[in-house]
Amino acid sequence: MDEDGAQTTDTQTDGAQTADTRIVDTEIADTNGLYIDGEWVPPVKGSHFETVDPATEEPIAEVAAATAEDVDRAVAAARDAFEAWRDTDPEERGRIVNRIGELVRDQCEELAVVESSDQGKPLSQAKSDMQGAARYFEYYAGAADKLEGTSVPVGAGQVDFTVREPYGVSAQITPWNFPGNLFARGVAPALVAGNTVVLKPAEQTPLSSLRLAELCAEAGVPDGVVNVVTGFGDPAGSALSSHADIDTITFTGSVPTGQTIMKQAADTVTPVTLELGGKNPAVVFPDADLEAAAQWIDRAIFTNAGQVCSAADRVVVHESVHDELVDRLIARADAYELGPGLDDPDMGPLASRDQFEKVSQYVELGKREGATLVTGGSAPDRQGYFFEPTIFTDVAPDTRIAHEEIFGPVLAVTSFETEQEALEIANGVEYGLVSGVFTADVTRAHRVARELEAGNVYVNMWFGDTNQTPFGGYKQSGIGREKGMEALDSYLQTKNIAINLDDDAGSLPGA
Ligand code: NAI
Ligand code: MG
Repeated sequence: MDEDGAQTTDTQTDGAQTADTRIVDTEIADTNGLYIDGEWVPPVKGSHFETVDPATEEPIAEVAAATAEDVDRAVAAARDAFEAWRDTDPEERGRIVNRIGELVRDQCEELAVVESSDQGKPLSQAKSDMQGAARYFEYYAGAADKLEGTSVPVGAGQVDFTVREPYGVSAQITPWNFPGNLFARGVAPALVAGNTVVLKPAEQTPLSSLRLAELCAEAGVPDGVVNVVTGFGDPAGSALSSHADIDTITFTGSVPTGQTIMKQAADTVTPVTLELGGKNPAVVFPDADLEAAAQWIDRAIFTNAGQVCSAADRVVVHESVHDELVDRLIARADAYELGPGLDDPDMGPLASRDQFEKVSQYVELGKREGATLVTGGSAPDRQGYFFEPTIFTDVAPDTRIAHEEIFGPVLAVTSFETEQEALEIANGVEYGLVSGVFTADVTRAHRVARELEAGNVYVNMWFGDTNQTPFGGYKQSGIGREKGMEALDSYLQTKNIAINLDDDAGSLPGA
């Protein structure tokens, strides 16, 4: 397997060596083992791969490539650790999770360097991700001892109440755009609810998750409660998501992989929480503050080089202000300085060679589909997976670049005449993660917010969701909600307990 320019090294004696395979040192150190049951362990089959810095295309670490056998071990460890963790006093669970938050905050700089090197994002964005990660642990820690059930008034003959119980082993499969931050987004609520975790980070960006697993242990998380198996989607990811002994799955990534996971989960009737990206519209009305809108949209499409599920991929702008808004956006796009993440530039490289190729192909497609390329559109002549901030105008709503998630610094602009038309364009895609409306008219803001088919609507801003607000998709953008108290629903199931108080044996089902 060769993804992200990563070279797989099979160190088994009988391992066939392909032309692009090269031997690397496979001695197990903290960075290249799997984290299972509180220990760094080598993969059963001894296979490793290299993760690269996308700014240099050079390997920066060697990481274990887990197989189904390793996933079995991790799931077994999580299963064994479950009962004791579930039964740990909630106050103590909260204290431990809060301590993880403190450690992440203390080590924010170091974690940000790891993230920026592995993923490519500017250092200040990586720091912000890690502060957000700390905040997830702090936020959910406070919920650990407040996961209350209800008492149901069913009459004098019976006492009835609900308890909220953890599912058991939570499988978490994370992507490469916000690896450390998404580790925290899933692991924190899973832990406070009393679940144990096996997490598989994306093969392009495994390093921050390994470090975070270590910090969990340092904070007092018992052995086996948090396990990390690094490796590829196949076999590691699919071995985890199809494992018979996991109880719930949290996945963030592409629609096709989400669909595969959902189909596999059907075999064991395992619940899934899916966050599958978007093709998010920013709808700009003529009465909007255009400079403010340009500022928000610029940040919304070019942060993390556009590799954000909630990026503003599309601008749907009233024809009367189209040119003025586009001029402002072009001026901003052209001012970007690209560079390695560690130099904290305005924009880093794309996270992998695969993503670089995908973005390049979409830009060629946009030209063929008849959109007008008004700025960017190329890769600068330098090493690394860099791509220029790119804007297309005249993007017809029925073209592929208007519908498909590009996941790069590519903005598609379409104009409209009426509010009705704006809504049709905005809602005319299969995705429905986030959307935005820019207007000075409060009535219109409310009206349009109601009509937009998306889990999150931002008014005169972007990235308006926080750790405290529910976040997730309508339509094919997903199932369930991350963030906020609602995320706990993915990690808790309700048990209703009915206790008889009289001698009447008269209850019938369905009564
Ligand atoms: P992907 O969805 O295949 O990868 C995400 C995670 O799933 C990784 O950890 C991967 O190893 C794992 N995975 C892959 N195949 C699996 C399988 N069969 N069973 C279990 N786990 C599996 O996404 P990919 O290929 O890295 O990126 C493709 C596109 O997906 C991007 O260009 C972007 O459009 C979208 N994407 C959306 C994200 C979001 O935030 N919603 C994040 C990353 C990618
Ligand atoms: Mg990498």
